Amino acid sequence: MPEQPETLGRLAAGLHAVVVAGARPNFVKVKPVLDALAADGARTSFVHTGQHYDDAMSGVFFADLGLRSPDHHLEAGSGSHAVQTAAVMTAFEPLLERLAPDVVVVVGDVNSTLACSLVAAKANIPVAHVEAGLRSGDRTMPEEINRIVTDRLSDLLFASSPDGVDHLLAEGMPPASVHLVGNVMVDTLLACRDRACSRPVLADLGLCPGGYGLVTLHRPSNVDDPEILDGLLTALGEIAGRCPLVFPVHPRTAGRLGGRLPDGVRVLPPAGYLDCVALQMGARLVLTDSGGVQEESTVLGVPCLTLRETTERPITVAEGTNRVVGRSPAAVVASAFEALDRPPPPRRPDLWDGCAGKRISAVLGQVVERRGRRRRG
Ligand code: UD1
Repeated sequence: MPEQPETLGRLAAGLHAVVVAGARPNFVKVKPVLDALAADGARTSFVHTGQHYDDAMSGVFFADLGLRSPDHHLEAGSGSHAVQTAAVMTAFEPLLERLAPDVVVVVGDVNSTLACSLVAAKANIPVAHVEAGLRSGDRTMPEEINRIVTDRLSDLLFASSPDGVDHLLAEGMPPASVHLVGNVMVDTLLACRDRACSRPVLADLGLCPGGYGLVTLHRPSNVDDPEILDGLLTALGEIAGRCPLVFPVHPRTAGRLGGRLPDGVRVLPPAGYLDCVALQMGARLVLTDSGGVQEESTVLGVPCLTLRETTERPITVAEGTNRVVGRSPAAVVASAFEALDRPPPPRRPDLWDGCAGKRISAVLGQVVERRGRRRRG
């Protein structure tokens, strides 16, 4: 276990960290890390890979989070996995050579995370992975491949929950590289909750708190296969008969929905960060395939059904409000009715307390301090 941040002071002073973000959930995760490093006197170079580029997927997050503008934009854009990963790598390599930082900090499990860790590892620059050790056990998920490879390449592994630590140790990672620090997404959620509360999104949509359910679906395994998507839409239609649903639609999903929407399910454009939190807070039930939403709904105490066969975040089931219910329409409907009738009690995992960014900065500072001492000694 790392020492508590208070005992470590401003050890990160003198550190130069490159911090990478590329896609929607990354912006939420880097904010507390950038803030904590800045507060501890570190120099940060903030890199946006451009994996997400629309205002609704990127710009609005900067505004909502008060995230500073990136120092470098790689403009990688969309493409197949290989094309996108290669575009990020090709643009990141010369930049990294120029910046020559002490460490590259990557977050989450998107293609940008993998691409930048691979470039940094080959340049012999230490990689720190925030949200390390999550495993769904499902290698058909592109994110699972990204998690495994990124962790293998990383010198510092920041886990958000004890199961993450267990996976990393079981896979043979050196124990000294593994740090249980809590959840950066929760840092951001707790910091933004009051501002989300004052958003007019519910009133604008004519929604009453507790009077609707929230749906988010964007996993290729759910939305790219028309048969699976049809089954899920049928289930949503049945649930909407008891509890109207709102569905902010990710661009990947928008392209696949066509006109097929059941009565009672209302489609919205992708929600910005504060509106998404506000919609979760007001919801009676959340139905999702997102990793971040599983965590946020747990912290907000809102019942969540995960429409997947697995989760890489089992702590939200064991110590939160989440249930993994699969994708069979009958099971989804039955689980939704049960959650409406008997909502689970709110609970929150240990260390999901708003201080993960500070713990990460403290550990990064310790590592640099040790290296400096070795050089001096
Ligand atoms: C990516 C991540 C996923 C994460 C999700 C969050 C990978 C492998 N997947 O999935 O883990 O949960 O982001 O949103 O990294 N598009 C736009 N505008 C944009 C960005 C994308 O219209 O700003 C469209 C493009 O048609 C693109 C498609 O969405 O081809 C998919 O984008 P991509 O970044 O490849 O994957 P996501 O499905 O967003």
